[in-house]
Amino acid sequence: MESRHKVILDVDTGVDDALAILCAVRSPQLDVIGITTCFGNVDVETATHNTLAVLEYAERTDIPVYIGAEKPLLREWGGPVPWIHGDNGLGDAELPPLRRLAQDESATTFIHRMVTEHPGEVTLIPVARMTNIANVLQFDPTIARKLKRIVMMGGAAFCPGNVGPFAEANIWGDPEAAHIVFHSGAPITMVGLDVTMQARLTSKQLATLSESRYSEFLKEAVSFYINAYERTQAQDGDDSWCALHDPLAVAMVDDPTLCEIKDYYVDVETHGLLTAGMTVVDARAVPEHRPNASVCVSVDAPRFLQWCADRLGFEV
Ligand code: BDR
Ligand code: CA
Repeated sequence: MESRHKVILDVDTGVDDALAILCAVRSPQLDVIGITTCFGNVDVETATHNTLAVLEYAERTDIPVYIGAEKPLLREWGGPVPWIHGDNGLGDAELPPLRRLAQDESATTFIHRMVTEHPGEVTLIPVARMTNIANVLQFDPTIARKLKRIVMMGGAAFCPGNVGPFAEANIWGDPEAAHIVFHSGAPITMVGLDVTMQARLTSKQLATLSESRYSEFLKEAVSFYINAYERTQAQDGDDSWCALHDPLAVAMVDDPTLCEIKDYYVDVETHGLLTAGMTVVDARAVPEHRPNASVCVSVDAPRFLQWCADRLGFEV
């Protein structure tokens, strides 16, 4: 049997981050060696609390959690987004009080240590601002060639953004960090809005969630998130839905055939008045630079949904 993939998730938990964590720990081929936290959907303390709470919910208290950045590299943080993820970041659904704490080691040193100890083996799955990953790469640029791959949820290649006409939230939230990551030389798979906005969980599917100790929690958290999508996104079709952004990045490590991929040179706009945080993809026939990223351009949504359903317990 092929050995399991060593993965580190970097999260700003967040409803879809919570789903991504659950999917990851329920994927037999993924060995989640740790989870690092970052500001983004919520502040880093809340992201850390939610990550620990979700791991307790999943009965995976063996997975250590490391606290990361509380603000972007150069900018001020714009604050949480309670209208999308609720006041507590989990759609205001409650989980029991925590029974353990995060580790003392920082997110940056943990990532650095793991990649150094296991060269060529560790895949990073950042589904938050790229700040922690940029911090590691700035501290030690050789990490870029010791990583197996970075499979990020972030960016919008050939589709509109979600925090502005062009920018996706994880890139927009710290463009300078994303710029460092794309220019690092690390092998990158970009799982952006082109595919994650097609990866939809509907209210009807959510209603089929099988009874478990915590299905009420999941129903409440995801319903809040779906309601937010109803308010903020044009909802085509006859059923309301939310996008499973972060779970798709995890799925692409477990099964890279779920998306069609094309290699491009991707840069990040850090200055534009209207375009800061845009992922600029050079799709010309003869681009100026060699590709630095494998960009997901389409997704087999039914197959991805089945992958999620198998892990979260709903019917498709
Ligand atoms: C991304 O931004 C965050 O709010 C979500 O958790 C996801 O990682 C979507 O743009
Ligand atoms: Ca996220």
